[in-house]
Amino acid sequence: MYNDQRRMNSFTVNLGQRSYPIYFVLDDMDRLAELLKNRFPKSRVFLVTNEAVSAIYRSKIEPILSLHGLDFRFIAIPDGEDHKNLVTADRIFYELIQNYADRQSVIVGFGGGVIGDIAGYAAASYMRGVPFVQMPTSLLAMVDSSVGGKVAVNHALGKNLIGAFYQPKVVFIDQVFLRTLPRREMICGFAEILKYGLILDNDFFEWAVINQKNILSLDKNSVEFAIRRSCELKSQVVEKDEKENDLRRILNFGHTWGHAFENLGSYRILKHGEAVLFGMLAAAQLSWVTYRLNDKNFEQIESGLLPFLHEIMSNREIKDLMTSLKWKDIWVKMQSDKKAQQQNLRWIALNRIGEAVVEESIPQEKAEKSFAYLQKLIQQHAEA
Ligand SMILES: NC(=O)c1ccc[n+]([C@@H]2O[C@H](COP(=O)([O-])OP(=O)(O)OC[C@H]3O[C@@H](n4cnc5c(N)ncnc54)[C@H](O)[C@@H]3O)[C@@H](O)[C@H]2O)c1
Ligand SMILES: [Zn+2]
Repeated sequence: MYNDQRRMNSFTVNLGQRSYPIYFVLDDMDRLAELLKNRFPKSRVFLVTNEAVSAIYRSKIEPILSLHGLDFRFIAIPDGEDHKNLVTADRIFYELIQNYADRQSVIVGFGGGVIGDIAGYAAASYMRGVPFVQMPTSLLAMVDSSVGGKVAVNHALGKNLIGAFYQPKVVFIDQVFLRTLPRREMICGFAEILKYGLILDNDFFEWAVINQKNILSLDKNSVEFAIRRSCELKSQVVEKDEKENDLRRILNFGHTWGHAFENLGSYRILKHGEAVLFGMLAAAQLSWVTYRLNDKNFEQIESGLLPFLHEIMSNREIKDLMTSLKWKDIWVKMQSDKKAQQQNLRWIALNRIGEAVVEESIPQEKAEKSFAYLQKLIQQHAEA
């Protein structure tokens, strides 16, 4: 069990020449300004953000950046996944060109995962690549999308299809931003935190389940530890498999299912983390019926995740969607998941809590039963 909430407030992701530090702070924009000034002394800084985040934080941050003598400019795009596309990326390019951004200019992605992904894509492409800094403001972005260097925009024919592997120069995580993040978004980030425990670290899973209230109510030390440990675990995987040839796939635990649910809700009804939470229950059950996971571990996962299933299901639209899903539609969506390769749908199974494996093909009949199990949970909730 983790009692050890170490005070170290940064660590390095080791990727040779592409290595970079991740900083963990609380309410310390001075530190960010100093970092940018020291690291990129002659650069212009372009902070790509969205209108919602900008409305809350721009007026607070601007004076601090000015005080430190930075030459900066905000680029605010509309909020939402719908805008993570090439049209919006082009708007960013216009702003960069019109404001004389050059190859020394730095792009800072200041927002949730949508902003990190599109700002990173812009940074990777503009003048064949300019320095990029991640400053995540959602829990999901802090524990997942800001680390690892995947950047992308969506295409009409599929999510995240246009992108690159492009590592940031610095990741700067200030948990103060979580104070304005809605609880629904907090739970999405928490689902990914649970995922890291399930695939890589049994003790961390147990710790996160026990400390969920502290994390979700923003107890400083609990939040810091939850974020830092998640970043460490993700970094360890990325260090071994930067470009997702093999091991990195385990980070998709529950995601084959989750993507199908998200898609069937037209990416509007379910948020990503919510869909993944349902997906992890189905994937855990599938690991159990295929004799990998023992009874005790499976029960532990159920009892850790079920309270969140109930909370997520209290949303009317989600309840309607989840109670109306049909296996054949899910199966079709799973097949078309972009991670499906050559007809073989890989899926991530758990041998035990803390150890995941990539499986070559998903056993259809067993997967159908796992869906029936999930449906039963959903039905039980609906009737309660
Ligand atoms: N690159 C990767 O490795 C990776 C990994 C996981 C997810 N992603 C991507 O991340 C995106 C999802 O990220 P997300 O869940 O952060 O969604 P998001 O960026 O849409 O943010 C969720 C909502 O919270 C708002 N918000 C963000 N920070 C806030 C704050 N501090 N206060 C108040 N509101 C705030 C946003 O404006 C938005 O409305 C998806 O596009 C997904 O594809 C990428
Ligand atoms: Zn995810």
